This record gives sequence, C-alpha cells and structure tokens, in this order.
Amino acid sequence: MTKNRSASSHTPVLLSEALKALAVQPGGRYIDCTLGSGGHAVAILDHSSPGGQLLGIDADPDALEIAKERLQHFKDSILLVNDNFANLQSICIKYDFFPVHGILFDLGLSSLQLNGRGRGFSFQHDAPLDMRFNPDQEITAADIVNTTPEARLAQIIKTYGEEIHSYKIAREIVKGRPIETTLQLAQLIEKTIGRRGKIHPATRTFQALRIAVNHELEHLETALRQAVDLLGYEGRLVVISYHSLEDRIVKQFMQKEAKGCICPPGTPTCICGHTPSLRLINRKVITPTETEIDVNPRSRSAKLRAAERITTQGDCYATTDEHTFLTIAKSRGWRRPALLQKIRMAFLAA
Ligand SMILES: C[S@@+](CC[C@H](N)C(=O)[O-])C[C@H]1O[C@@H](n2cnc3c(N)ncnc32)[C@H](O)[C@@H]1O
Repeated sequence: MTKNRSASSHTPVLLSEALKALAVQPGGRYIDCTLGSGGHAVAILDHSSPGGQLLGIDADPDALEIAKERLQHFKDSILLVNDNFANLQSICIKYDFFPVHGILFDLGLSSLQLNGRGRGFSFQHDAPLDMRFNPDQEITAADIVNTTPEARLAQIIKTYGEEIHSYKIAREIVKGRPIETTLQLAQLIEKTIGRRGKIHPATRTFQALRIAVNHELEHLETALRQAVDLLGYEGRLVVISYHSLEDRIVKQFMQKEAKGCICPPGTPTCICGHTPSLRLINRKVITPTETEIDVNPRSRSAKLRAAERITTQGDCYATTDEHTFLTIAKSRGWRRPALLQKIRMAFLAA
C-alpha cells in the first residue's frame, strides 16, 4: 500500500463506512454537499447504478472542475452546482431534486486545497493569506488578520482554534501588522508561543481563521436543518467531521432531532411540542481503522455520524394548514414562499 497518497490527490475518508451509512441502493437519489474531487461521489454513483442520481455541491469552483472531469462517465446521472451548502434547500428546489435517499457532508477542506499553492490554507508553502473556499467571497484571512480588533481576533482564535494562547497571539498579530502571507503569520506565532510537541504552533490559529473566513460552523448548522427536510422517509443523513467544534454541532443536532420532548428538565408538562424526525444509525461515533490512518494520515481525526429520517416528506407540507406551513417554512429559514406553496399544493394533490 502507498503511504500518504493524500499529499498530491485527495483520498476519500471513511469511504466504505459512508456508503454503508448512506445505505446506497440502485436507482437512489443522493446529494454530496461537499463534492471536493468527487471521491465519495464516484463510489455513490457506482453503488447506485443503474438509475442512481447525484447532486454534487461545492463552494470551490476549482474542486467542481476536477470532479466534473472525474465524473465524466456518469454525466447523465449528475448535476453539479457551484454554491454553498448553506443554500441546500433553495438549490434542491431550483433543480427539483428532492426527496432524496441520502445526503453526505464530508466537511472541511480537501488535500488539494490544503496543498494547493496560492490558496493560503497551509503554512507548508508561502502564499497570500486567503483561505476562501469560494474566491468570489469578499473577506479573506488577510482581511481578518489585519483589520479585526485585538479582543475580537483573540476570541476568534480561542473559539474556533481552541487555542489557549489566543490572547498572546492576537496581541503579537496586531503589533506585527500588516501580515500578508502564510509564512509571515506562522513564523510570528512560532516566535510568540514557541514549539511544543509534534503539532506546529500555528495549526490552531490557521484552523480558526479558515473557519471564520468561510463561516463554516454557521453554514453547517443551517445546512443540517435543511437537509432533514429534503430526505424522504428512511433517507439517510451522513456527516464526516474533522474537529471537535464540527462534531459537537452534528452530534447535538442529531441527538436533538432524534428526541421527542426537548423541554428543559423539570418542566411539568411538555410545552415544546417537539417530535423526533431522525433515528440515530450509530450510537457510537465511527472513526477510521488503524489501517486507514496509516494509508491516509489525514483521516486520523475523522468522525462519522449518521441518522435516518423517520417522518415522511409530506408531514410538514400536508398535515398543516397554510398559515402554520408558512410559519414553519419561515422558522426553518426557507425562502421563496410562493414556490413552497406550489410544492405544498402538489403534495396535497398527490
Ligand atoms: C473534505 S473535502 C470533500 C472531499 C470529497 N468527499 C472527496 O472525496 O473528494 C470538503 C469539500 O467541501 C467544500 N466545502 C466546504 N464547506 C463548504 C460549504 N459551506 N459549501 C459548499 N462546499 C463546501 C470544500 O470546498 C471541499 O472541496
């Protein structure tokens, strides 16, 4: 086996586990919300053939181009969209791609992005501090580093990087401004907090900046809420995360959706009216085997969680009156009420 193939290409993480959790079946419809270079997507299309369909989304246009070439063979079964998965609902409504049998999120960034010169995600190469998944987005990591007030910068590094030296680092960044490149920032951090252990001292700060630039946690929360509504009955939601902040969001979301009443403990009678929409597939989080970690070290921090929808697609559309339906739609952040009404009417007529 070749060790560390991920340096020059992206090796899909927890691939067989993801396929199993998605329960991929011939003729099924799937969404890969983080298409990357299409590693998971190829396998999903292989296993869902004949008749399978896949909607692939990525915020990074370069990733989409690579995936498009790789998925040539399946060109009649795929729909590729360059967008943010925070817009999942509207993408699916636009392309009439729901309900689906499974939705996959393989979060974070690909090896191609990490190793790509000029993207600014890594301090292994000197590059402008960019870190945007989508180059059309306005704010770069350099903007955050050079314009954010010290206290807010420290908070970003602490919260998103879980960095205990965040205040010290923020102070030195502010003193050292302007900081334009990855190496400049990495060296400043190393000088500020020194080197301990195997992990480079800038790792946590780089993670924090990437999360902040791309609003990763907010987008994940938004997309998870939308994903459940797009699944058909017994459709699967599968999420692979790479750090504790993401995993906490996924775990709490799935646990909450798998519960009935979510009133605070001690509430005499239920006032929340919450009903479960998901069933957890794996009570214990799934992690890579030693063999996978050995072949693909990037997989070492991966955690897979999966859940199955236990309510029918029509529950929300068909069982409520118009006013309640529109209230639910608004609370879920769904846009285009006129189109949603049309879908509701189609459900009622079916
Ligand atoms: C870990 S890679 C996915 C790799 C892919 N599963 C494969 O096997 O090739 C994550 C991908 O998700 C994309 N991404 C991250 N956040 C996103 C978001 N909010 N919306 C759309 N794409 C996103 C990144 O651009 C990256 O290409």
